[in-house]
Amino acid sequence: MGENGSGWLPEAMSTVAAEVDALFYFTLYTSTIIFVAVIGAMIYFGIRFRRRDESEVPTPVHEPKWLEMTWIVVPTILVMIVFTWGFKVFVKLHTAPPDSYEITVRAAQWYWEFEYDNGVTSANELYVPVGKAIKLNMSASDVLHSFFVPAFRIKMDVIPNRVTSVWFEATDVGTYQVFCTEYCGTSHAAMLATVHVVTDSEFRQWLATQNQDLPPAELGAQLFNQYTCNVCHVDTAVGPGLTGIFGSERKLSDGTTVIADEDYLLESIVDPGAKLVEGYGLQMPATFGSLTQKQLDGLIAYIKTL
Ligand code: CUA
Repeated sequence: MGENGSGWLPEAMSTVAAEVDALFYFTLYTSTIIFVAVIGAMIYFGIRFRRRDESEVPTPVHEPKWLEMTWIVVPTILVMIVFTWGFKVFVKLHTAPPDSYEITVRAAQWYWEFEYDNGVTSANELYVPVGKAIKLNMSASDVLHSFFVPAFRIKMDVIPNRVTSVWFEATDVGTYQVFCTEYCGTSHAAMLATVHVVTDSEFRQWLATQNQDLPPAELGAQLFNQYTCNVCHVDTAVGPGLTGIFGSERKLSDGTTVIADEDYLLESIVDPGAKLVEGYGLQMPATFGSLTQKQLDGLIAYIKTL
């Protein structure tokens, strides 16, 4: 909740957010008024017309027609208002403006990868210009995930073998939280990303300076961090630890052993199932094969320093 937050919802930071909120509050307040009126009347009638004596016999009630018509017509009108209003907002939320800037989103256990039109990729950090419609074309490489940015009031499932999309236009610069809202395994709760909404010139500059020449081990450290490799290989025991791995002897699940040289590290990154370390299942996504040779060299250089 920020400066515009209300206690019910976080601050509204996209062009569609105000419309989503208006509908939410209309439904919330109307339901609250009806709930209080119905429960209040129930309690009042329960006390006022309670049976006071064993010999009391109630007389049959014949309700007036106007009262019956009222509780049919009023709720019908309310439901139609919420339906037409909701349908309008739904269509708007699902129709990206034709001049949207498109970004490809890939979800995997357990990180978000973003690819921009010039081929630049980033992981768990989405940069977008303020005041510009952004369309995200999303797919998953393993299981179901869901992309949710509360401040923008957008949420969309991300599914293997299918492209789903969602769009937004941020109204102010700042950083906003992305959550994965579909349970996707051990580190689902850690599958977070940040949207950096920056000015148009800052965005262009950021795009131009990405993937610049870094020493291999530094590039590798950056990638290791961006792709949250530490979640599986350091923080949890989902994958084997990597400290001192280079040059060590690895015992594999098929009983053989192998020396962890550059070749082994490369193979294990791009084809994780090829040589499984004893005691570990195939948990790692096979998506890192899409990294460039330079990025892979960087990762290997970094792992050698651990
Ligand atoms: Cu990805 Cu939960």
